[in-house]
Amino acid sequence: MVSALRILVTGGAGFIGSALVRRLITQTPHEVLNFDALTYAGDLRSVAEAADHPRYHFVKADVRDRTAVRRAIADFEPDVITHLAAESHVDRSIDGPADFIDTNVVGTFTLLEEALAHWRARPAAERASFRFHHISTDEVFGSIAEGSFCETTPYDPRSPYSASKAAADHIVRAFWHTYGLPVIVTNCSNNYGPYHFPEKLIPLMIIKALAGEPLPVYGEGANVRDWLHVDDHAAALTAVFQRGEPGATYLIGARSPRTNLEVVRAVCACLDKLAPRQDGRPHAQGVSFVADRPGHDLRYAVDPSRLEDELGWTPGRTFEEGIEDTVQWYLANESWWRPILEHRYDGQRLGLAVPAR
Ligand code: NAD
Ligand code: TYD
Repeated sequence: MVSALRILVTGGAGFIGSALVRRLITQTPHEVLNFDALTYAGDLRSVAEAADHPRYHFVKADVRDRTAVRRAIADFEPDVITHLAAESHVDRSIDGPADFIDTNVVGTFTLLEEALAHWRARPAAERASFRFHHISTDEVFGSIAEGSFCETTPYDPRSPYSASKAAADHIVRAFWHTYGLPVIVTNCSNNYGPYHFPEKLIPLMIIKALAGEPLPVYGEGANVRDWLHVDDHAAALTAVFQRGEPGATYLIGARSPRTNLEVVRAVCACLDKLAPRQDGRPHAQGVSFVADRPGHDLRYAVDPSRLEDELGWTPGRTFEEGIEDTVQWYLANESWWRPILEHRYDGQRLGLAVPAR
């Protein structure tokens, strides 16, 4: 039986943060403070099933706002800080990198300094059990031609997004080595699943296919990503902050690398079964090869052996199971994604028309 902890989750209204919050409230005894600025990517509807629970709390605040961070930490007195708040979309980082440096680097640094002050002020007996868990990405390692990234792979970030995450990872580890702050870093592969913002590959393809629009695949669709269901990521994060070793790094992935074209075809095959086109043609006929992303990393693949061997985590579903569930979720939850397209999302920028009702 796990004893109840006080967990401050930054970015808990985002895609992965909301999956973690839902899991913590429904499957653990932990008390949760969701600390989120509610940027374009944050949505409290993603944590609706946790919102009324007495162990759930929310504060709308920015990780770059030192006063707000200090107040939240002082009021909530966390045992664990799980830091997910970030600017997360590579294409946006290419168009405008400044927010990525601000939030992902400076925001992480601000949070670290306030976490350090909080940790130092704790009674000695409680200091050892404190954790600052920094959630990062496999993209910090750059592109790998064959084999998989592991915990000792040298960093080689190549987009403004991955460079900002890499910088943050280094600063987090510096706080462990220099000050002894008990940090843990996890680097995870691409996630998919419910409540994924419609600018990312998989939800974008589902929504565009439903609208009968072309499905824009960058380059030749040969880039490889290693896909993990978001609920499996949330389970891994929970295992890591509860049982992981301070100072350690864990890579998280499901050994499920696929080309983008394979992923889009898998989405289309599910839609052919669950929501066939009215003209009887396969959805994959909509695939349209478009200009490649500048500096597009060719291949990511993750070796999660350390996490499996030391903490006993394994993914709960295959990609085939997860992708069908995900397509079903988007079909059943148009009420979640349609308002994003209609009211809050810069649809024109990515050419995302609102599908007809
Ligand atoms: P997301 O863009 O869906 O959500 C980010 C959340 O952070 C939003 O709720 C947003 O409101 C909040 N936020 C942004 N800037 C903030 C700020 N300055 N202060 C407070 N809150 C702020 O992102 P995601 O896909 O859920 O990713 C979460 C974390 O996981 C990120 O750190 C990302 O780098 C990492 N990650 C993501 C993936 C992936 O496939 N999505 C894979 C590996 C790692
Ligand atoms: P994305 O979901 O943006 O995640 P990331 O860039 O963090 O891996 O993209 C996943 C892959 O899909 C990536 O190789 C870029 C590609 N992609 C397309 O081919 N078309 C699109 O419209 C988008 C958004 C992404």
